[in-house]
Amino acid sequence: MPLNTPDLLPRLLNARTTAQTEAIMVALPIVPPEEYQWISADERSGTWQPGKLHWVPVGRDRGNGGRIKLAGEPMNPLAERLVNGMEALIELERIREVKKDPNKPMPPNPRDAVLRYFGFPRLDQIERLEDDERKVKSALADKVRKNLSITLDFEKKSKEFAVTVRDHGMGQAPEYVHRTLLSLGRTEKADKPYLIGVFGQGGSSAFSIAKYSVVIARRAPDIRKQGEGAGVGWTIVREIQPKGRRDPYYAYLAAAEDGSVPSIDPTHAEKFGQGAQFCHIAYDFGASDSSIARLMYQSLNHVLFNPVMPYELYALKDTPDPMKGSAQRLAQRVRRFGPGVALDKSFAQLPVV
Ligand SMILES: Nc1ncnc2c1ncn2[C@@H]1O[C@H](COP(=O)(O)OP(=O)(O)OP(=O)(O)O)[C@@H](O)[C@H]1O
Ligand SMILES: [Mg+2]
Repeated sequence: MPLNTPDLLPRLLNARTTAQTEAIMVALPIVPPEEYQWISADERSGTWQPGKLHWVPVGRDRGNGGRIKLAGEPMNPLAERLVNGMEALIELERIREVKKDPNKPMPPNPRDAVLRYFGFPRLDQIERLEDDERKVKSALADKVRKNLSITLDFEKKSKEFAVTVRDHGMGQAPEYVHRTLLSLGRTEKADKPYLIGVFGQGGSSAFSIAKYSVVIARRAPDIRKQGEGAGVGWTIVREIQPKGRRDPYYAYLAAAEDGSVPSIDPTHAEKFGQGAQFCHIAYDFGASDSSIARLMYQSLNHVLFNPVMPYELYALKDTPDPMKGSAQRLAQRVRRFGPGVALDKSFAQLPVV
């Protein structure tokens, strides 16, 4: 079966267009939706064919269409993905900390978590520090931001955008990908005050804006538990429109009837390192010109006004813009007016209750 060939992972990682994604799928043993579909929670239109990939509803919920489509507009789902990436980086450090000291109390909120784990204060405070301290903190932030990026690509021929969010955080083992990255209304964060997400829904909103989404994840090796897969879990998400019905749903490629996704052997997986990559292909920004790159810069800085962690934006170019949110830019000192004069007030820390 062509599921473990050495070229599958690079092709999945680099797919940015409908044509590339469909070329990957053509070569795979996929049972077409006409032969296997979810009719309701417990009724299928065909039987499971062992050894083949099947389209299974995201969250194993046939009625997921409405919830996933709620997003409606293109920028917020990307911010959701970025926040998930920040949380995956924070959670990686928390898991490492607990491994060393099981009794270490949790950070009380996300800002304290990034201070504890990465050593930088709130991003909007960095600009207010004295010169030498500011340099140290910004160098730190520059290092950390390399672990989280969002990339905008555009293919002229098909006029398709692709948006890729990549993090080098905790990742997920292949056998957990369907219960986390592809779940709905399920979260591992609700009891963790140092994280942000709480509904188990945010990330999936991006599926409805894209034609295909390629999802790839690998658990960070140093936090992998015994028995957890060391390979790369992957899948592709798309909309299924059942014939003669008005209620589409979102489905992903599953390798087993319990919903788990296919995985690539560790021998072919090293190139990926760790973390997660979501590539949303033929992403619908409602326009197809280069103004989207500028719009993205502005919108992300606005939606993630004062993010807990910095990230990088590659907007149709090879060099990244460091992204720290508009609050950070507003907090810059106007040096002409003398020391200590800031453009705006700083923003008080909000406790998580
Ligand atoms: N980049 C990632 N790396 C590792 N795990 C992730 C990543 N993104 C999401 N997850 C896992 O997938 C789950 C679902 O993510 P999703 O964004 O849908 O919900 P959430 O973050 O838990 O809550 P919210 O709906 O408030 O965002 C998370 O609880 C987490 O376990
Ligand atoms: Mg989330």
